[in-house]
Amino acid sequence: MFEWKKEYESKITAADEAVRLIKSGDHVVLTHAGSEPMMLVDAMVRNAENYRNVIIHHMVTMGKGEFSKPEYKENFHVDSWFVSPCVRQSIADGYGDFTPVFFHEVPNYIRNGIFPLDVCLTMVSPPDEHGYCSLGVACDYSLQAIKSAKVVIAQINDQMPVVYGETFVHISEFDAIVIGSEPIPEMKIPVIGETELAIGRHCASLVEDGATLQLGIGAIPDAVLASLKDKKDLGIHSEMISDGVVDLVEAGVINNSRKSLNPGKCIVTFLMGTKKLYDFASRNPGLEMRTVDYVNHPTVIAQNSNMICINSALAVDFMGQIVSDSIGTKQFSGVGGQVDFMRGAAMTTDGKGKGIIAMPSVAKKKDGSMISKITPFIDHGAAVTTSRQDVDYVVTEYGIAELKGKSLKQRARNLIAIAHPQFRDQLAVEFEHRFLTKF
Ligand code: COA
Repeated sequence: MFEWKKEYESKITAADEAVRLIKSGDHVVLTHAGSEPMMLVDAMVRNAENYRNVIIHHMVTMGKGEFSKPEYKENFHVDSWFVSPCVRQSIADGYGDFTPVFFHEVPNYIRNGIFPLDVCLTMVSPPDEHGYCSLGVACDYSLQAIKSAKVVIAQINDQMPVVYGETFVHISEFDAIVIGSEPIPEMKIPVIGETELAIGRHCASLVEDGATLQLGIGAIPDAVLASLKDKKDLGIHSEMISDGVVDLVEAGVINNSRKSLNPGKCIVTFLMGTKKLYDFASRNPGLEMRTVDYVNHPTVIAQNSNMICINSALAVDFMGQIVSDSIGTKQFSGVGGQVDFMRGAAMTTDGKGKGIIAMPSVAKKKDGSMISKITPFIDHGAAVTTSRQDVDYVVTEYGIAELKGKSLKQRARNLIAIAHPQFRDQLAVEFEHRFLTKF
């Protein structure tokens, strides 16, 4: 029964030895977010002089991103599918790159070679008595990357929680194993101020008892969750969750009892929070992790009744075009699952889905001045993340703008009504130029 143990032990090696399996010119994928194997990445960077033009791919990276530093630009080249702060500069400075992709399509791109893949670096739990390790905090594209890579190097971390669902990988899939215990990377919990709380309250007014929720990334989701304490029988079908969900499950507000798809379970594809979330997810039968081509597929999302999707944005133009991943020509983050969920909400079979974009009305520029996030035109060079047809509501601290079924002028009027008061007159003047009509 324990035959696998011999194989397991024969594959154990030191990190510096394991990364010799990476060759110059290889495409290397890091598994996602908190499952990035820090010890292996450190060893790869330590041995940088052994490589020329190794191409590194990942979505959210929670590590140091040292491979993206200018001193390594001959050794490593970042081609990320989502831009995290630690690699942003390399892309802004021109020696890194970004590939736009819907999150739900990443496993398919890997499977079909659209994203070439030689080596996968992953971090997993220790094997169980059958030789299976859990991918723990992320299975999304990670599972497919392990299956498709020519070489898989795994860091076995006894601090990685065992999470149920499509997270199990047998040790026979690994070419080299490195034992390395370290805390799972944690996300800094965003500060929730008065603005975020006001946004949270407006969003909560759009959430009915029994709804199924998707919550995006940033400070807004936790503020929304904090405003949902009086709701009943909420469910989760979300690309990711953070610590805020734990409080609502423990308070009995989220119980998944009225979900039309996967009742009784929170369905997610990765976790990004603190140890509190990772402990909550550990061997929890109430939480199931599924790969991202399932969780984020718009046709799967659409099977949830009362599906409410809440995501954030950097800017919204008068027509309701949503800019969430670029600031002008600067690539700031990525599309992630935003469009997957906004599309899914629009396609729901019960017709009750809501796609909500929630954001503060203003942003601070680098020089300290304020700009309105509601703007007549998107910035030169910026990309539209979510199209104007897929947005039902835009929420700021000043209220809710309904866009679904509204004309261009009505959209602009509704958006200006929830802009920061300091900018409303100026936006009204822009409205008159743009639409040749009195505001
Ligand atoms: N113009 C210029 N700068 C702007 C801006 C604008 N219109 N809007 C925001 N900024 C700046 C902010 O000032 C802030 O700067 P800082 O980092 O120097 O403080 C920065 O951009 C980030 O803004 P913030 O509002 O704090 O972002 P956030 O952490 O709440 O994240 C998104 C918001 C839109 C970036 C994030 O939700 C995202 O990447 N979305 C796309 C992917 C997605 O939605 N996935 C969903 C499923 S997980």
